[in-house]
Amino acid sequence: MNAPDIVMQSYGRCCASATFFDDFYQRFLQSSPEVRAKFTNTDMPAQKLLLRQGILNLVLFSRGLPPTKLQALARSHSRDKLDIQPHLYTHWIDALIRTVEQHDKQANAETARAWREVLNKGVEVIQAGY
Ligand code: HEM
Repeated sequence: MNAPDIVMQSYGRCCASATFFDDFYQRFLQSSPEVRAKFTNTDMPAQKLLLRQGILNLVLFSRGLPPTKLQALARSHSRDKLDIQPHLYTHWIDALIRTVEQHDKQANAETARAWREVLNKGVEVIQAGY
């Protein structure tokens, strides 16, 4: 199976796991004070729903969809808006992959590699718009 297909199936198992998004944000917020500072006024339940779609957009891009949705994310996260500096995406990717490993009971080293490949590709588009 190619990386996008491995990730699509793994993401399905993660979404079926009740606390996947709670655990992701707990881990992501713990990863750095810079990350925490960005979310001080955020409605986290709403943010978790938005992230569900955001991850799907990264996966669909890796499967060949045009980068339109990621370019919109790049604009909202750019220096003039949310001002998410490019180095913060390392925390995001690492937190997500660790959360996948925790929730996807079928995850192995190949699954983690596939996620990293898929996420890196989409995150590059978002970082390029900073
Ligand atoms: C908002 C996705 C990375 C901080 C959002 C939204 C989405 C999203 C869908 C809501 C809609 C929007 O504003 O466009 C993603 C995805 C990421 C990512 C898919 C990774 C590829 C990051 C990183 C940070 C961050 C690394 C750093 C701290 C924020 C903040 C908001 C936001 C502060 C606004 C929250 C609020 O409304 O208070 N993100 N994001 N995001 N994101 Fe991200």
